[in-house]
Amino acid sequence: MAEEKKLSGPDFAEGVSLSELTDREMVQGHASGEAILVARCGDTHFAVGASCTHYGGPLAEGVKAGETVRCPWHHACFSLRTGGALRAPALDPVSCWKVETSGGKLFVREKQPEKKRPAVSAKAPENVVIVGGGAAGNAAAEMLRREGCSGGVTIVSADDATPYDRPNLSKDFLAGTASEEWLPLRSTDFYREHQIELLLNTRVAAIDPRKKSVRFADGSDLKFAALLLATGGEPVKLRIPGVDSPQVCYLRSLSDCRAIIGKAANAKRVVLIGASFIAMEVAASLTNRKLQVHVVAPEAVPMEKVLGPQVGEHLRRLHERNGVVFHLQQSVVAIDERGVALKDGDAIEADLVVIGIGVRPLTDLAERAGIKTDGGVLVNEYLETSIPQIYAAGDIARWPDPLTGDHIRVEHWVVAERQGQTAARNILGGRDRFDQAPFFWTTQYDFTLNYVGHAETWDTLDLDGSIEKHDCKLSFRRGGKTLAVATIGRDRESLESELTMETAVQAGCA
Ligand SMILES: Cc1cc2nc3c(=O)[nH]c(=O)nc-3n(C[C@H](O)[C@H](O)[C@H](O)COP(=O)(O)OP(=O)(O)OC[C@H]3O[C@@H](n4cnc5c(N)ncnc54)[C@H](O)[C@@H]3O)c2cc1C
Ligand code: FES
Repeated sequence: MAEEKKLSGPDFAEGVSLSELTDREMVQGHASGEAILVARCGDTHFAVGASCTHYGGPLAEGVKAGETVRCPWHHACFSLRTGGALRAPALDPVSCWKVETSGGKLFVREKQPEKKRPAVSAKAPENVVIVGGGAAGNAAAEMLRREGCSGGVTIVSADDATPYDRPNLSKDFLAGTASEEWLPLRSTDFYREHQIELLLNTRVAAIDPRKKSVRFADGSDLKFAALLLATGGEPVKLRIPGVDSPQVCYLRSLSDCRAIIGKAANAKRVVLIGASFIAMEVAASLTNRKLQVHVVAPEAVPMEKVLGPQVGEHLRRLHERNGVVFHLQQSVVAIDERGVALKDGDAIEADLVVIGIGVRPLTDLAERAGIKTDGGVLVNEYLETSIPQIYAAGDIARWPDPLTGDHIRVEHWVVAERQGQTAARNILGGRDRFDQAPFFWTTQYDFTLNYVGHAETWDTLDLDGSIEKHDCKLSFRRGGKTLAVATIGRDRESLESELTMETAVQAGCA
């Protein structure tokens, strides 16, 4: 959530001594009532807004890399020269100020006008169709316009809501600490102003790569010069008796979340089936709504497979301290109006059941169109599928990870948005590789973990610091190579790990 701006540090209008500005550290101060970050790059100084335009993260606590600054909270990246939001999850730029030096001091002067619209891209296709109005689809449409695409841009979305902040559905919004107004990524006016056609509640039923068109459920067609597939995933469905009962919910969309909130209002006890990230975030949020929460899951330690046993155990204890009851190494075999029946013969009374046992990528459209898939839509480093002019991004894309050489697929918000942005640049004729280190975060109560890289398996897990004190770094290694780093309360180290991974990839020595 955006924080209220507090002014601190030097008043840059009065000047700050140049000797205080080093290449390594950035300085936060203010001028004319606005929080400003000053950074030095060699002989050049920059002054930009101090708060990230995503959730208001403090950029001064982030990391400077070349002429960019990366946000400590969810790793957005801004240009210090132009303020431009170079990498999601921030979609808007930060402001820039003019700086002057005299008498050994630096002064921040007037705010620079916002950058004008870009020159029209010469290589823009006549029209781009984007299937999916989620993280990847929205970020792609915005980037097409930002990069000067003058042709038609259409987002076709099966959802009935304008693109929204999906990660929030299991966090503040579900907990009742953020209102629904906070969820849309953009207003409907934004899409109108940027001439992005948004077809909501509209499902693409088929793709005809030969005719270069998509077919809607009503049989009508829409031609495309370039197509981006960004259909995301759907919750894995549980097949047990009673699973279609009205008190049973899944969580993927805003309407799913509204349904859970509506049912939670009259419920006393909820059973969560599964100990996935989403399920555990739902557990934390529903305890905030004063529900008794029970979690039934087959694993012995929640989230051990992704985060290792120590973090998993810590999370279990954290949830238990908040009143959550775990039924681990267990499964639900049936649901009825009184609650759930467990495999061992026990039963748990419940008036709400939320299933969170994983996500299945929606690849069927691609498969039926003859696009190569392998548990995801296969793309190359430019996010091109096996059919020319058809790209894929987000939860459905399986791309070559430059760090390991493996083709990987992840379900991370930031990755989906950044892939949408990369695909958009390539649709406009760029040759932009997707070689960024994957990043995700999870928040449960006061616990926030940032994770960079991707480690499906590891042979060594090093812990530096204390998980209990929320001050640590965990390195997941295989064959001596660091594949992923998780941090709790060490945001800078998370950013530094991201930079190290990306530097290794760029140097070709990953
Ligand atoms: C509750 C929840 C919490 C999460 N929290 C986090 C988090 O904390 N951190 C994190 O990194 N990630 C999180 N994620 C994961 C993250 O939201 C996803 O990785 C991301 O949304 C994927 O983006 P996407 O664009 O690929 O798909 P989505 O955002 O799912 O968008 C897909 C879109 O495609 C549409 N669609 C599907 N099929 C069709 C069709 N045939 N025709 C037209 N439209 C279609 C859908 O309606 C939807 O609009 C969370 C996910 C959920 C559900
Ligand atoms: S607050 Fe900066 S990336 Fe989220």
